[in-house]
Amino acid sequence: MSTDLIPNQNTCSHPTAINGENPISNEQEDVDNKLNGKVNDIVATLAKGKGWRGPEVFLHKGFWLPQNAIKSLLMIHEYFHPKPTDIFLAAFMKCGTTWLRALMFATANRHQYKTSDHPLLRTGPHGVFPSLDAQIFLEYPVSKFDNLPSPRLFATHFAHDLLPTSMTSPSSTCKFVYVCRDPKDALISKWHFMSKIRSKELTPMSFNEAYELFCNGVSEYGPFWEHVLGYWKASQESPEKILFLKYEDMKKEPSVELKKLAKFMGMPFTTEEEEGGVVEEIVKLCSFENLSNFEVNKDGVQTFRAQVVVENRNFFRKGNVGDWENYLTEEMRDRIDSITETRLKGSGLALGLLHKA
Ligand code: A3P
Repeated sequence: MSTDLIPNQNTCSHPTAINGENPISNEQEDVDNKLNGKVNDIVATLAKGKGWRGPEVFLHKGFWLPQNAIKSLLMIHEYFHPKPTDIFLAAFMKCGTTWLRALMFATANRHQYKTSDHPLLRTGPHGVFPSLDAQIFLEYPVSKFDNLPSPRLFATHFAHDLLPTSMTSPSSTCKFVYVCRDPKDALISKWHFMSKIRSKELTPMSFNEAYELFCNGVSEYGPFWEHVLGYWKASQESPEKILFLKYEDMKKEPSVELKKLAKFMGMPFTTEEEEGGVVEEIVKLCSFENLSNFEVNKDGVQTFRAQVVVENRNFFRKGNVGDWENYLTEEMRDRIDSITETRLKGSGLALGLLHKA
């Protein structure tokens, strides 16, 4: 099945009915027109950069976003009502959200489903755990999110400072799990993924060009370092609100990280569960080898917005730490490591090579 994408994702179009269901009312169309006008006005004032998937990204409040993402952000600010029990999974692109989605969903619902007949087998990690950024388009403007069981689980790629304070303020009780990764591996993973879903109307982006753009911070939802730092600082200030995880730690000791995650989510594993092997069972269910071999993840697709459909197989590539070694020269590696060192200096956070003890 081929990847079917909107020809130009930077064009804000009218929302369309999905499979003939959920027809768009006049009221919705009015709201949509108003929003498109707002977004067009905002975008007209912003600096432009080259997009990895669509033609352009715009520098909005310090972060590079496609026009549709700016619209989605406005919609979140205007229409999304967080609940005190909500848990958000946040990450820069390609840092491990597919894995975390599966782990968080399986942990939250462990009393409900057997691993032999688990929803992950049928719907894949994205199907069980909506992306707030994209789903807001499908559910908008009257959100069906209200009917989701608690705790509601949502994923987002938006930087911490871009989200409404109703979600991020330490006085709100909803929680964030943030996962980050060596920026060198995030770059390689993102270039592969974006190359697969890049608009067919555009010329392919070479790796060297992607590397330059990434180092300059120009990539969807970037700069990488500011994205990570925003959540890192917030996690230092409010550790009960934001759990900061690293992909590398999860690869090294998945059970230890999963126990930390379950405790943070307010659903710690009991001694009985630990002794009964429940932790290992969830780790195994959500492992790269297991998930990537489910039929739904080999042949299925994920609809993010009307007309934006991505093959599930594209969310699974290698699942390794350090694949950058197959792509970067020493000089390229040193440049990214030095950017990382400079940007993270004084923050108490170490990533990538610097992270190696
Ligand atoms: P690679 O491209 O390096 O293989 P995201 O899910 O945030 O889009 O991140 C995608 C990255 O996570 C990809 O990395 C993908 O292979 C990896 N990944 C997906 N599922 C995984 C899992 N269950 N365990 C470990 N890594 C996984």
